[in-house]
Amino acid sequence: MRSKRFSSNSGRKLRVAWRTPHYVKSLAVSVFYAVFGLALTFACCAQSKTAEMETAATQFRGESSCSSSYCHGGAGEKHDQCIRWSKFDVHTRSYATLTLARSARIADVLHIADPVQSARCTVCHAPFQTIATNDALRKILDPAAGVSCENCHGAAQNWLLSHTRSDFTHQDRVNAGMRDLNNLYVRANTCVACHQNVDADILQAGHPELIFELDGQAVAEPKHWREGTNWSGPMTWLVGQLAALREMQWQMSLEKVPTESESNKCAALKWVIAPAGMHASTGGMPPELAIKVEKGFDITDPAGRHRLLDHYAATGTTFRDATISRALHARRAERLVLALDRLVAGLNDDSLTKRLDAPLNKLFKDAQSLPDFDPKIFADDLDGFQKVLSVNP
Ligand code: HEC
Ligand code: HEC
Ligand code: HEC
Repeated sequence: MRSKRFSSNSGRKLRVAWRTPHYVKSLAVSVFYAVFGLALTFACCAQSKTAEMETAATQFRGESSCSSSYCHGGAGEKHDQCIRWSKFDVHTRSYATLTLARSARIADVLHIADPVQSARCTVCHAPFQTIATNDALRKILDPAAGVSCENCHGAAQNWLLSHTRSDFTHQDRVNAGMRDLNNLYVRANTCVACHQNVDADILQAGHPELIFELDGQAVAEPKHWREGTNWSGPMTWLVGQLAALREMQWQMSLEKVPTESESNKCAALKWVIAPAGMHASTGGMPPELAIKVEKGFDITDPAGRHRLLDHYAATGTTFRDATISRALHARRAERLVLALDRLVAGLNDDSLTKRLDAPLNKLFKDAQSLPDFDPKIFADDLDGFQKVLSVNP
């Protein structure tokens, strides 16, 4: 099994969600708070909750408690997580984003005085902002660090000392409170909390639309970890898409009349997921959310993945169906190209991947703009992709 670490198998981008990282390096050394900062947003609405937040803050230890050279701030693959994060991770720039003119424009529309101070923005962009309520705390939990170690791995108070013990198993660490990011479903939930739903008024004010796709986005982060031997990219993709679908359905359930764009996005994702199947235990998916293998191509099996890819490649005719609205076609295409990208990467066939590169780039280009989307051109290019896929040199 070849190492999946730092895999650079995804160069393709879809709209802003997939642009090239520009690695704004944060000056800050410290860290932050847990992913479910969303809970804290609610907490911070009420002033009486300040004490609660201070208690929450004490659960965090900050990146500086991870970064000594013999822990995660050293050289070499096993110890360089902090260095990779501070140098390359897109999340170190998320605070700086709030200081840009683009954020000021969004804030203006929303009557937010300062995005850097507003929990409506910092909940995702600078999760420590609302909990580091005094200067002493800010020294350890610097909001300017962006999305930091504990935002994903969980507040470290209860496991910081014990997690280095050689007699501790992974499960022991998880039991002590470290988030089980090895479990794909837990991982998907961690990322999707900030990567799919944004309030409608924030979107209308000019915030980029979010499209969650766990596998490709983990590569783009980029990864500071090595995947286990049972790991598979396509499986990761599917678990992520199921989490995204659940989030979208939740958001829609809160609205009396979901917008057409929301309904289309949701329907499109369902359409892409429908032909896929997996065993309930895959990636730790709860059985009620997993989709049954009998119903679709088994994502856990390499042959099943190939058949799923063949199936998607043959959907050109669907995109020629004029009874389906162009807007829905565009949304399907958007999710489909991400699926193709991850399934191709997961084939682990370098020569086929290379041959599919140009046709796939074309499809990404076609799906790039919603207003300009042309289903016929997309269908033709999908046929072209299928042709290359089916040729066995
Ligand atoms: C639900 C989490 C979430 C909330 C809340 C949120 N953002 Fe974002 N924001 C993101 C994510 C994720 C991205 C990255 C999108 C991408 O590149 O695909 C982003 C991207 C951006 C960008 C574009 C950055 C770029 O380089 O293109 C700006 C600007 C921005 N956010 C400002 C804000 C402002 C201002 C607020 C508050 C009004 C806010 N965000 C609230 C998650 C959030
Ligand atoms: C606490 C919220 C939060 C969590 C949790 C989170 N992100 Fe992000 N992420 C953001 C924000 C905010 C940005 C926008 C950064 C910026 O300002 O440019 C972002 C940007 C990104 C980007 C670059 C833009 C894009 O969409 O391609 C990638 C890739 C990414 N995150 C992957 C992940 C992955 C993978 C996980 C889970 C392992 C994750 N994120 C967890 C908030 C979060
Ligand atoms: C955006 C989310 C996110 C952030 C931020 C983050 N991590 Fe991770 N980290 C992950 C995920 C996902 C994994 C994979 C988990 C697994 O396979 O067990 C991981 C794995 C690891 C591992 C295991 C490495 C391996 O090869 O098994 C270490 C150690 C680690 N992270 C340390 C850190 C440190 C230190 C920081 C802060 C400098 C940090 N992480 C920030 C998401 C994140």
